[in-house]
Amino acid sequence: MPGRFITFEGIDGSGKSTQLAMLAGKLRVQGFDVLTTKEPGGTALGKRLRAAFLETEEAVAPLAELLLFAADRAQHVNFLVKPALSEGKIVISDRYADATFAYQGAGRGFSEETVNRVIELATGNLKPDLTLFFDLPVETALERTVNRSENGEKKNRMDKESADFYTRVREAYLKISSKEPARFCVVNASGSTEEVHARVIEIMGKFLNRG
Ligand code: TYD
Repeated sequence: MPGRFITFEGIDGSGKSTQLAMLAGKLRVQGFDVLTTKEPGGTALGKRLRAAFLETEEAVAPLAELLLFAADRAQHVNFLVKPALSEGKIVISDRYADATFAYQGAGRGFSEETVNRVIELATGNLKPDLTLFFDLPVETALERTVNRSENGEKKNRMDKESADFYTRVREAYLKISSKEPARFCVVNASGSTEEVHARVIEIMGKFLNRG
């Protein structure tokens, strides 16, 4: 049986990583074989790339950034995602190609055509079966990331962008949802962790039942 490929997206501070861990735990209890992973940094090479271009003070050219996210993705798809899907697993990735449309496309200003070409090359056209976009007003998400760094969490280069940048990123995600409503679900990420989890479970129930 071919597996299912699910991706989680959201602007920084949307709470998607917590939700991903909660969903994976729940599916495992129900007996599903689940692989959780992330981009960038889902593989050993990806972790080294991530440290080199994201967790650095060094200036990184926008094109280098676009290609390095793509390199991380090519390694991830080839060595982790595709093999797990062919073993019938449910793969849940914390970010995937939609992040490149949003951050490098709308955020950095690369054209849709350029981003499309790079993504196709990196993924061999592997698309998620379902994407959950955790949506929050930009101001709320930014407040959460400020609290995180006050609690000692390390900032990466992308965490230092302006509200304007994140507004463009959020709008790009919402545009994907209007183009691909069957795959791309917008989840209201405000409220308690449990409230958001309940919304996720409802969407997953429908997805797993549709065969
Ligand atoms: P990370 O610490 O993993 O943050 P998060 O928990 O918010 O995912 O940082 C990853 C950052 O990289 C995040 O700001 C989004 C950004 N990113 C891109 O700009 N393009 C991409 O293709 C991907 C996968 C991530």
